[in-house]
Formats: sequence, structure tokens, C-alpha cells
Amino acid sequence: MVKTGPKKGKRLITAALPYVNNIPHLGHMVGSHLPADVFARYSRSKGYETLFVGGSDENGTPCGLAAEKVGVPIGTFLDTLYGKHKDIYNWFGISYDNFSRTSKPVHNETVQDFFNVLDKKGLIKKGSMKVFYSPEEDRFLPGRYVSGECPKCGYDEANGDQCESCTGVLTASELKNPRSVISGGAIEIRDSEHLFLDFEKLTTDLRKWVGKQKQWRSQVKGIANGWLDEGLRDRCITRDLKHGVPVPVDGFEDKVFYVWFDAPIGYISATKEATPDWKDFWTGESEVFNFLGKDNIPFHTIFWPGMIIGGEEFNLPKNVLGLNYLNYEGKKFSKSKGVGVFCERLPELGLPADMWRAYLSQIIPESGDTEFKWDEFQERVNSDLIGNYGNYTNRIVKFTNTKLGGELERPTPERVLPKDREFLDEIKRQKEEIEESLERADIRKAYHGVMELSSMGNRYLHDQAPWVTIKEDPERANDVMYHGALLLKTLATVSAPFIPDTAEKVWDQLNLSGSPLAKGAWDTATDPLDKKHKVGEPQLLFEGLDDKRVEEYKEKASKATDLAGFF
Ligand code: 2FM
Ligand code: ZN
Repeated sequence: MVKTGPKKGKRLITAALPYVNNIPHLGHMVGSHLPADVFARYSRSKGYETLFVGGSDENGTPCGLAAEKVGVPIGTFLDTLYGKHKDIYNWFGISYDNFSRTSKPVHNETVQDFFNVLDKKGLIKKGSMKVFYSPEEDRFLPGRYVSGECPKCGYDEANGDQCESCTGVLTASELKNPRSVISGGAIEIRDSEHLFLDFEKLTTDLRKWVGKQKQWRSQVKGIANGWLDEGLRDRCITRDLKHGVPVPVDGFEDKVFYVWFDAPIGYISATKEATPDWKDFWTGESEVFNFLGKDNIPFHTIFWPGMIIGGEEFNLPKNVLGLNYLNYEGKKFSKSKGVGVFCERLPELGLPADMWRAYLSQIIPESGDTEFKWDEFQERVNSDLIGNYGNYTNRIVKFTNTKLGGELERPTPERVLPKDREFLDEIKRQKEEIEESLERADIRKAYHGVMELSSMGNRYLHDQAPWVTIKEDPERANDVMYHGALLLKTLATVSAPFIPDTAEKVWDQLNLSGSPLAKGAWDTATDPLDKKHKVGEPQLLFEGLDDKRVEEYKEKASKATDLAGFF
């Protein structure tokens, strides 16, 4: 039996907030937005009261510098890129209930309130830090914008926070002859007062909580335990910057919160903005699920949970789904080298979003890095989506129209043969298996289960050969097609989280009311069709991909737009 949480319980689903100056490529889609979306669509269909939130991460130095480079005011920069992100997720069918922004007043307020609670609980300390200051640019610079000589290995292009050559972690006072990466000018080391979150006080509770997270994938557990074993130090939560969330403490007027302090609180602000009942999604029985890339795992298993433990009584995540990386044809995605598939290019190719969603669902990097390959994309579209799924849909709808007058009759119980009963049982079993995978957010396995269900349908038709029986026993042909149509209804429902537009089309062809994506649709997927059920008209679901077209797509999709090109 499938074990689920309370049937109509609340689920808050989050995808990591993308930096707004990084326009997503396919790696970003498979690394958080798509798996979170499939899980959210499934959760709604299963009847959970679901809220799926995200937003753009708009604070921090990189945004300010990128706006400078493009030569537009920061506000224009952020508005335009936020719009690009939103368009891309909409195009992809990512069903965010709210895709917010960390530059909104609601976010500032939420972050400041969150901070005030931590402060009242005695978890905030003041301390002094050595920081990089560029007199020429009249600003403080984070370590990654400073380079100099590594005191450990002598490499002279080391970053201010880490040496690429020996991987040693560096502090501002250690780097020799520091200079600004932006202007090339000399850097001064200044003392600056900052706020720190006292992680020592949180370690015991964190350790206890991490120890209980049996559902985490092994990589997530490993990374979290690695940080705990190293011992948690106080973390600086402020920065000498103008752009970001203001710090509500006297003497800190010229500083803002560190992006990694404010960004996860963005999950709360986005919820707050979405519904007046936002607290209900963060407290009580509500279950929170975070989807994120592997570089974000420490933040979501240690630092953010630490903030929650120390702060108000908000729920800790029920699961932290850390995803690995997607490579492209054996290489890393690279915007500057034109290596990859860049999402802003996809609409102009003219392929439906579901084609991408279907292939990407098979290469979600759940247990290790995976790879995008054009020939595999082509093969999967042609054989799975068209050869298996599309073909099955067409066989059912077309045969019913041409040979059975467009109408199916529900067989009386005595007409249901043992092999039919077995088939109907198998449909239910397969659906349960898909459900179990989805409850664990094992998207790849669930997708394979969906394609297997479709294959089961094709095998049944092949074995029962209604096109033969129709001649002597039209009633038997009807009964086979009725059972086949029931599988198709189930198939539309269980495939809907992955390929929502296509599932709706199948639903239409079956002439069913409502939607395969409706709340509660999941649990009625195998319910019988009407005693007499008229189906709709057959329509083509996908066009095949030939080599020539694939070459054209490859060429177009790999040309990333330079940020300046958006203005
Ligand atoms: O790595 C990133 O893209 C970050 N902007 C993710 C932030 S997730 C958060 F909101 F906690
Ligand atoms: Zn070094």
C-alpha cells in the first residue's frame, strides 16, 4: 500500500531562488524548477493543499556589478531580468503559485522580522572583521572580486576568499598584494563591524534534527554531516554593501544582510505574498519540501534550518531534495563558449515545452551528474513520446472512432475476462508504484513508471488484437477498447505532472470532463468510464524529430544571449 501523509494536508514546495542575473539554461531547469514543479503538480492532483513558491534572488554584489556593466540603473536591470525569468518558467509550464522577488518590500520586512526574533533570542553577536576596500571604486568588495598572491602556495591569481590552485580558504588579511578584479586598483584592508549568527548554540539541535532525516538522499546526508563534523562556526550575516536588505540595527545603516541570510527567508516572503493564510503553510501539520542544486545543500541542511531552529516556530523541511549537475554533450554548460541549451532560445525553436519536460524528466540528476545529449533527446521523443505514448493514444481514439462509432460501452462483469481483470489490476499497481516514487520525489523513476504504463497498454492491444476480433465479435473488440481507454485515462492523469499540456490533449481526445490536473484527479484516475462513453476526435500529439531539424535546433539553442542583449 502507498503510504502518504494526511490526504488533504498542506504542502509548501520551494525551488531555490535563482540569481536574477543568471538566465537559466537546461541545467537550472533540471536542478530545481522542473522536479519541484512535477512534485507540486502531483501533490495538487493527489489532493494536498499545495503552494509552490519561488522567486528571484536579487540582492548581493554580482547584481549590482552586472547592472553597472550593462550600463542601466539597478532597478531597470532587476525588473527586466526578473521578467525574463518569469517568462521562461511560464513557457516551461513551471506552475509557481507565486514567483516573487527578494527586492520587494514584503521581503525586507520579513527578513528584518526574522532577524529581530533571532536577536531577541540572544543568537546575534557583534564582531569585527577585516574586509577588502577599493579606494579607487569607493566600495567594499567581496573576496571573489579581489585577487592576489596566495600565502600558502604562491599562486598569484588567487581569489580573496579561496585559492584556485591549492584550494586553500583565505581570509582578507592573508592574501598578499590584493587588487580589485574590476578596476585592477590596489585594495586596502579595513576593519569593519559585522553581525554574526551564533551557530555553536544551534549545533546540538541541528545535529539531532539532521540525525532524524532518514528520507534524505545519501548525498544530502553526507554533505550535512560533513559540515556538522567539521564544527559550526559563527556566521557573518551582514555585508558592507548598498544593495540589499537593510539591517535594522543602529550603526549598521551602511550595511545590508548577506544574501545567503536573506534569500531563504524569501521562501517565507513569497508565501506571505501569496496568501493571507501563509502561516498555516509554515506551521502545524504542513509539510515543506525544498528543491535545490547540490551547491545549495549546505545552506538548506545546515544554515537555513539553523536559522529556523533559532527563530520563530516555523516548520523545518520535511525533505531537502538536492540535485546534482547536468552536463551538455560531455562538457560543462558555458554561456561564453556557447556550450549548452539556453532557455531564452527555446520558444523560437517551436518545439512544445512538453518535449523538453519529458526528456528532462529522464535525466534529472537525482543520484549523480547526468548529461544532455541531442541524439538521446531525439531518440526519446521519437520512441517514447511518439512511438509509445502518442501511438497508444492514437490507437485507442482512432479505432473507437473508425470501428466502434466513436462510442465505448462499459462491459458487464461477466464479460470481463480473467486476462482483462489482470490487466485492470496491473494498471492500479503501476499507478501505485508511480505514486510511491512521486511521494519520495524520485521523478526519474516515476517517469519511467509512466512510460511503462503506456507500454502495458500497447502490449494489451497487441495481445487482444481488437482489429481481428472486430470482424467476428465486435462486443469483445469494444470491451478491449474500453479497458484500453481506461488505461489511457489513467495514463493521462499520471503523466500530467510531467507533460501537462499533452495530458490535457489526451483528456480532450477521450472527451472526459474536468482536467487530469485537477485537485483530487489522481485518486479517480482508475474509476470506470460512463456506461456509454463517447470519445473525442483523434489529434496528433507530437511531430517527429528528424536529423536535419535537430541540427538546426542545436545551432540556435546554444547561442546564449549576453545580458546586455536584454536591454
Ligand atoms: O545558488 C543560487 O542560485 C542561490 N541564489 C540560491 C538561493 S536559494 C535560497 F533562496 F535559499
Ligand atoms: Zn594557493
